Amino acid sequence: MMSSAPDLLALEEMPLNTQVVGRRFRVFDVLDSTNTYALEEGRAGDVIVADRQTAGRGRQGRTWYSAPGLGLWFTVVFEGPPEQELVYAAALAVRDAAAEQAALRLKWPNDLLLNGKKVCGILIEHRDGRTALGIGVNVHHRPEDFPEELRAKASSLAHETQQPWDRGELLRGILQGLDKRVMLVGSGGGEDLWREWASACGLEGRRIATGGQEGRVVEIDRSGAIVLETPTGLQRVHSGDITILDGD
Ligand code: BTN
Repeated sequence: MMSSAPDLLALEEMPLNTQVVGRRFRVFDVLDSTNTYALEEGRAGDVIVADRQTAGRGRQGRTWYSAPGLGLWFTVVFEGPPEQELVYAAALAVRDAAAEQAALRLKWPNDLLLNGKKVCGILIEHRDGRTALGIGVNVHHRPEDFPEELRAKASSLAHETQQPWDRGELLRGILQGLDKRVMLVGSGGGEDLWREWASACGLEGRRIATGGQEGRVVEIDRSGAIVLETPTGLQRVHSGDITILDGD
C-alpha cells in the first residue's frame, strides 16, 4: 500500500533538483524491506521509501529495527557506480544533510554516529545487475522505542538534539547530496570522494582493535579497507566492528 504518512508523501509532490537519483519515487506504508523491493522491482534512479519495514536488514545478517513514523527507511537503485563509491557518497550525503542541526560523525565502515551513538546505517546489496543502496536513519525515536539491547548504542537525531526533525526535508537533502556526489564520480571525481570519506572517518594514525587484532591505522585504502600496522606486519581489514583504543 502506498504511504499515508504526510511528511513522506510530500516527497512525491516536490520535484528534486537531481540528475540520477529520484527519477521515480515509491513510498509505502509497509514493506518487508526496501532493499528487497529495490532488488526485485527497482529501476536505476528509483527511490523506495517505507514508513515501516517488517524484515529490515542490517549488515552481517543483523535485523534493522524499522518501526513506523520513527525513521527514514529507504533504498536508492543504481546500475552504475562501484559499490564503495556509493557507500562513500551516501555517508557524506547523510552527514551533510543533517549538518545544520547536528554534527554527525562517520564510523567506519558504514555507520553515522551522533554523540557516540548510532543514528544511521548503510547496507548495499546486488542482484542481476541492480545495486540497492539502503539507508536507515533513526529520526524520532525515544530510547524506549529501541529494543533494550540496542539502547546503549543506538539513538535518534531528535533525541540527541532535542529538536524537531522533518523526515521529508532530511530525505530530500540526502538525495540531493547523493546525486551531486554520484555525478562527480561519473565525471572522474572518485578519488576526491574517497579522500573526503577516508578523512571524515578520522582513523588515520589511531590505535584500534578489530577482529582479534590490534594496531595503528596507516590509512584507509581506495577499496575502503583499513591498512593496519600490527606487530606481525601490515594487515588489511575489509569489514567488522572496530574499537578505538587511544581516545574516542
Ligand atoms: C547496518 O547498519 O547494519 C545497515 C542498516 C541498513 C538499514 C536500511 S533501512 C532501508 C534499507 N532496507 C533494509 O532492509 N535495510 C536498509
